[in-house]
Amino acid sequence: MSDAAVILPEDFPQLQNDTFLRAARREETEHVPVWCMRQAGRYLPEFRETRSGKDFFETCRSPEACCELTLQPLRRFPLDAAIIFSDILVIPQAMGMDVQMVAGKGPTFPEPLKEPEDLQRLQANVDVSKELGYVFKAITLTRHKIQGKVPLIGFTGAPWTLMSYMIEGGGSNTHSKAKRWLYRHPDASHMLLRMLTDVIVQYLLGQVTAGAQALQVFESHAGVLGPEEFGEFSLPYLRDIARRVKEGLKKEGQDVPMIVFAKDAHYAVEDLSQSHYEVVGLDWTIDPRSARERSGGRVSLQGNMDPCALYAPKGRISDIVKKMLERFGTKGYIANLGHGLYPDMDPESVGAFVEAVHQHSKRMIEQL
Ligand code: CP3
Repeated sequence: MSDAAVILPEDFPQLQNDTFLRAARREETEHVPVWCMRQAGRYLPEFRETRSGKDFFETCRSPEACCELTLQPLRRFPLDAAIIFSDILVIPQAMGMDVQMVAGKGPTFPEPLKEPEDLQRLQANVDVSKELGYVFKAITLTRHKIQGKVPLIGFTGAPWTLMSYMIEGGGSNTHSKAKRWLYRHPDASHMLLRMLTDVIVQYLLGQVTAGAQALQVFESHAGVLGPEEFGEFSLPYLRDIARRVKEGLKKEGQDVPMIVFAKDAHYAVEDLSQSHYEVVGLDWTIDPRSARERSGGRVSLQGNMDPCALYAPKGRISDIVKKMLERFGTKGYIANLGHGLYPDMDPESVGAFVEAVHQHSKRMIEQL
């Protein structure tokens, strides 16, 4: 393939396995599609090899490295989707904040937002093609190199999750610095959430133009909000993102399924099912049957095996998967874990998970 062919977001190879896209739209499939959050990760020796000695965000800025890391899990397992290797924290960076990945500590902001005045430090009108064009290039390159094997998912962090990182300056158990803003500075909080939403909408539209065939919005820190706060500081922005992205895509004659994953927001399943997303992602603390009931059959569901179930022996993984499939049902369902894979997980267990989803679901669908 010539260089020119791989950098233009056109003439992509034809998609051969659209099971994931059909399930996202609640259409019939021959098996339940499956992918894993953090499927490109440190549990794979080839991932550690490619990443070794390089700065994390430098890796994110290399389209070739992102493409290679995205494709690695597909070479091992018959997954039904790929997710572009990148990070949610590229958005705060695009808005002018310094973010570093510190070994053993995780993402770190040397100068987090402390008070509302600090919002002035942020770039309000971000030119996403200039600041995040490297992600678009990674998506376009990967979409060519994936050769139509499976669809490519683009993603973003949701406004509240990004806001909490920008104020906490890194990971946190309580998120009390960020929550302090919600209670003490609600107007400034809304201003920040709106700024983030505007960037996110442009960023997601750019990802689809670049070749993303589905989009996932990660509200990873939903769980620290109660239903009231979620309703005020998260849900309206999640809705706004889906509505505006759909509107923007429609103008271009496009449409891609959107997934919302609000971790630990069990109280919000009804609301999330009525928020213009085709798919609601679930963590493992929700019972699939109750989620089905509460989502009212409007959306597809994705999830939600406890990632730690991958520590079980293979036969047991297969039993857990079977039970999960029975509880979700095989229609309008995308199998996944309830959160990302951990670095100490055995690749063979991931293989056993993927295989069990395919095997059991094929049998169940044949018997329908
Ligand atoms: O395979 C995939 O799922 C795609 C890649 C992906 C990464 N980050 C790569 C990554 C995705 C979807 C993300 C999103 C992301 N990043 C989220 C939302 C999802 C979630 O987990 O809730 C969050 C909260 C982040 C922020 C972030 N980036 C954290 C907390 C960490 C872990 C830090 C650590 O030391 O473990 C990262 C780093 C990161 N992002 C890694 C990967 C594979 C591991 C670090 C490395 O490769 O060196």
